Amino acid sequence: MTEILFNERLALAGGDPVIAEPLPVDVTIGREEADAAMRAFDRGSLSAFFGSWGPEFLGGEEVKAFEAEWAEKFAVPHIVSVNSATSGLIAAMGAIGLSPGDEVIVPPYTMSATAMAPLFYGGIPVFADIEPETFCLDPESVAAAITDKTKAIIVVNLFGHAARLAEISALAKARGIYLIEDNAQGPLATENGRYAGTVGDIGIFSLNYHKHIHTGEGGMCVTHDAGLALRMQAIRNHAENIVEPAGIADLTNMIGQNYRMTELSAAVGRCQLGKVEEEVGRRQRLAEHLSDGLRGLEGLTVPAVREGCRHVYYVWAMRVDQAALGVSRADFSAALTAEGFPHSTGYLRPLYMLPTFQKRIAIGRDGWPFTLTERQYHEGLCPIAEQMYREELILFEPCAYRVDEALADRLVMAVRKVHARRHEIGAAMAETRSA
Ligand SMILES: Cc1ncc(COP(=O)(O)O)c(C=O)c1O
Repeated sequence: MTEILFNERLALAGGDPVIAEPLPVDVTIGREEADAAMRAFDRGSLSAFFGSWGPEFLGGEEVKAFEAEWAEKFAVPHIVSVNSATSGLIAAMGAIGLSPGDEVIVPPYTMSATAMAPLFYGGIPVFADIEPETFCLDPESVAAAITDKTKAIIVVNLFGHAARLAEISALAKARGIYLIEDNAQGPLATENGRYAGTVGDIGIFSLNYHKHIHTGEGGMCVTHDAGLALRMQAIRNHAENIVEPAGIADLTNMIGQNYRMTELSAAVGRCQLGKVEEEVGRRQRLAEHLSDGLRGLEGLTVPAVREGCRHVYYVWAMRVDQAALGVSRADFSAALTAEGFPHSTGYLRPLYMLPTFQKRIAIGRDGWPFTLTERQYHEGLCPIAEQMYREELILFEPCAYRVDEALADRLVMAVRKVHARRHEIGAAMAETRSA
């Protein structure tokens, strides 16, 4: 089969594509989730939170049960459910007492919410570079970015692989800095037997539609610290009203939002949590199938898995060495698309290139909180992140598709075919352009 395909012309040059149909979309919610949602529905209250002190301050039956089950699964004592990981990141920044002018070290290569969260409290995002193997924060770059204004590090377990958590945690502890884990993409990822998201002072998980398990929108904040949990619970639910009865003496950032999770989402989340091993495992097997089938091809590098880590592959990220390949990433990508291999390139532009940082405008017209810092956010700040974005990465999302073994083989074949015939891509592209 493989031989035959390799003898066929590239789809880009008019040959048959290896995969002719779009991949089936993965649907991981069904009857069980619908029944659970109905259970909440039948009780007549879709959210059981009250924004004042009392038993309902912490939400309803489903929310409390979901938090308890999450605590057990991830072996962390305190869980604060929220309506998104973005809310969770902001609540975490508030809970640690972030104050205007405080610096927070973040990676530039992540979803924007990671770096925006500090701004809501006047914090200054400071970008440290990533390592090329896992695309997560490089501890050396983090260490170099620490100043006497650093209040926290937000480390991201990007694409489902743990950052160097033990190392960065030790660094943070030694310098008296909070470590917050943005684990939106990494449920069940591990480093040396510890779950990603549970190593730092606070870890944040996302339950949005695109994640391994989902509730529509939603997030879970986990912490070993009862004080931080209480402060996040307060920020989640109009803190200003409950500081006195809750006995919160430090009023820093004790103005609250409504970040509450609905009973419907929590009911769905409980079902999804029951399937998390299965769902994560299925995606992991698909990603490993791709890696096994494509390892060792000249100019391509399949995702690295650091020793002692479990990668849960929110994204399967292959690196392209354009010089070794003899073809540009753009042309290689065009040929992959023609063969029916769905992917994107580059991930996200390093976040400091966003207008918010380039123009230094966040809160209000005058540029607060950037008015509190001399820091500039220029191109070249994090060269590795820029290189990954511009030149190297080809990304496939195992979470998006339901792929059986036969289809997984065809995904591998699509890449192998393009790789084997890559020297024909240039001519095919030229023909397409002149047609
Ligand atoms: C790394 C990372 N952080 C934060 C978020 C925000 O998550 P949510 O959509 O739940 O707010 C995402 C969402 O994609 C993410 O990937």
